[in-house]
Amino acid sequence: MIRNANHSGLTESSHVEAAEATSTQPNLFSPLSIRNLTIPNRIAISPMCQYSAIEGEANDWHFAHLAKFALGGAGMIIVEATAVERDGRISPGDLGLWHDDQIEPLRRITDFLKAHGSIPAIQIGHAGRNASSQRPWRGNGPLTEADRSYGDVPWRTVSASLLAMAPGWPVPCELQASDIERLIQSFRDAAIRAMAAGFQIIEVHAAHGYLLHQFLSPLSNQRRDRFGGSLENRMRLPLLVTHAVREVWPRELPVFVRISAVDGLDGGWSLEDSLVFSDALKAQGIDLIDCSSGGLGGAATLQRVPRALGFQVFFAEQVRKGSSIATMAVGLIIDALQANAIIVDGRADLIAIGARRSKIPSGHCMRGNGSGCRPQASRHGRNSMAGGSNGGRACWMPYWSMRTRARNQKQAFLSGAANVPTGKRRGHRHVANRGTGDAMRFARSVGSRFRQAACPQTQP
Ligand SMILES: Cc1cc2nc3c(=O)[nH]c(=O)nc-3n(C[C@H](O)[C@H](O)[C@H](O)COP(=O)(O)O)c2cc1C
Repeated sequence: MIRNANHSGLTESSHVEAAEATSTQPNLFSPLSIRNLTIPNRIAISPMCQYSAIEGEANDWHFAHLAKFALGGAGMIIVEATAVERDGRISPGDLGLWHDDQIEPLRRITDFLKAHGSIPAIQIGHAGRNASSQRPWRGNGPLTEADRSYGDVPWRTVSASLLAMAPGWPVPCELQASDIERLIQSFRDAAIRAMAAGFQIIEVHAAHGYLLHQFLSPLSNQRRDRFGGSLENRMRLPLLVTHAVREVWPRELPVFVRISAVDGLDGGWSLEDSLVFSDALKAQGIDLIDCSSGGLGGAATLQRVPRALGFQVFFAEQVRKGSSIATMAVGLIIDALQANAIIVDGRADLIAIGARRSKIPSGHCMRGNGSGCRPQASRHGRNSMAGGSNGGRACWMPYWSMRTRARNQKQAFLSGAANVPTGKRRGHRHVANRGTGDAMRFARSVGSRFRQAACPQTQP
């Protein structure tokens, strides 16, 4: 069962009121009400950078990328990491909300998502020392002077401390107290613009080794002032940011925070730290913790979070139970039956699907499918999707191999060798080999079967 948050200063309607308020067990197709907003089902599309914006502005690429998920029936669609400052972009192709001109193109997208029954959400963040990087199909490394030849100009990065992300990456500037004030204001302003663009949920990105995570982790934060040292000090800036966002975001609408629940590195941020952080976020009125992991970089010899089906669900479950706050699970959740089991078992409140949307016939994954990486002409006459005929293939190979591993695990399940959620075996195979739209449609039919089981009196 979801515990109702009971922090002071919030109206009754602000609390998580999941479908278990009714007599039926919530499942993947139950609506989830948070504050005054109802998400029609538990399937969220995870934020996915498209590296295809020009000066932070959304364009037709973003519209097409996001609109298809609404047509597929996703309950909530989270727009990619959107930079609150120009220098906070991961790559020159990131979306941004540092300028009012960036509002209107996003509004076109939110209007469409709402009109087709999905809740539009946006993730805002700052990349810190991971900023100024190449688009994946250009190598994913730090931008260099050579990248100027096609218009991607490197810039100075900032972080908690003078520590490079990894060998070969530039040493960032250390954020000074005055920079920190400005940064908090930038998050606040970006949230106000996100609201003007029509978003109904905002997510603060404090995961994956980006700026707020760089402050949280003792591996990247070696400051000696009030923003470094103890856990309390390391959480200070992220909490000031989330507080500022919560303050300006409408009380009737939810604020989420994405965390890396663990660094997966020796001496790094731990699950225990995540519980303390989640408690503090909950006390501020944050409504849900989106539980990812890793991303801080570091030496390859250090331990990384091992990948397996639903490998991060454990974190969502622990945070949900430990901090009595709603959570979203993400990571190798590959079909509706697996996702449903997570909800039914009370391990998370929402399921986010990212690259695991399988063979959806568009997006960068398909561009990497050996079919070539076609440049997308921009209205400025430049290519926002540069790359040669196999550029996409190279940069998305890791995702394809992860998918292959997931398929192998699925085969193990189908042959009865693995301990994964039970369900109709043909259904598993069917969903795994289709795109998100098909999966959603299939999931809906599965859902009607769940509903029949839950409410025999109302179903023939
Ligand atoms: C192309 C791509 C872009 C991504 N961009 C973001 C992002 O902007 N913000 C973020 O928090 N995570 C990002 N992620 C991570 C996803 O949101 C998700 O957590 C991850 O892909 C794991 O889910 P999956 O196994 O369903 O793919 C990205 C992943 C991919 C594949």
